Amino acid sequence: MATNTVATKKRRAWTTGVFVKQLMAISGLVFVLFLLFHSYGNLKMFLGPDAYNHYAEWLKTDMLYPILPKGGFIWLFRTVLLLLILIHIIAAFIVWFHAKKARRNGYVVKKSAVDAYAARTMRLSGVALIFLIFFHILHFTTKTVKTGFTAEATPYQMMVDSFQNPWVFILYLVFVALVTSHVGHGFWSAFQTMGWVRANTRTFMVWLSGLIATIIFVMFMITPLAITVGWIQ
Ligand code: HEM
Repeated sequence: MATNTVATKKRRAWTTGVFVKQLMAISGLVFVLFLLFHSYGNLKMFLGPDAYNHYAEWLKTDMLYPILPKGGFIWLFRTVLLLLILIHIIAAFIVWFHAKKARRNGYVVKKSAVDAYAARTMRLSGVALIFLIFFHILHFTTKTVKTGFTAEATPYQMMVDSFQNPWVFILYLVFVALVTSHVGHGFWSAFQTMGWVRANTRTFMVWLSGLIATIIFVMFMITPLAITVGWIQ
């Protein structure tokens, strides 16, 4: 009897979609931590070639050594990031599918025009981001797509040579703007899922989502901007 109740509760958690939304919120949050770490790391470009190249090398070989073998961290990190993205995408798909089914079955889905627009924008920016992240890896990790740098370029030189080209700057501006808008809306949804958005907290939550998104945007774009205008050479 008790087992039955637990099973029913579990099923309910799935069907109401709360569990799936929590999965989205948690995977998104960990991804935001990665973004803060990555954008902060990029700021090392301001400390010059030695500092940045050393940092890039440390990330790939020495981070968490000797707890992990040399070069072990980067593969652990890539696996976790890939799993998080997969969880996030599958959860997004389930939420969308449930909403679609509910609409088809004639359930009244209480969604304002603003929320419906935000949900559609999130899906579009999410799909665009998958392609942009794929391009970004081909660009800076595998160096398959070269923008003004050679295969032998150091990480510092690769960044400087790339952002000399204003088109590369514009492409990354679009990429980071999309990430920022996705994260801003995402935070807002996550706060709602957690039940933190109430009449007395609404304004604060709007500001908080906007603030986190703005910090990520500025931290990412300041380095390419400094290169494009010639402060970093
Ligand atoms: C102006 C913005 C950005 C710049 C200049 C930048 C720069 C870089 C560089 C130089 C690398 C290669 C590191 C190396 O292998 O030495 C890299 C890797 C990576 N970046 Fe970015 N990045 C930016 C924005 C982003 C954003 C917004 C995301 C995610 C949405 C992202 C996700 C990644 C990922 C997943 C890797 C691969 C890490 C790996 O597996 O080695 N980056 N980025």
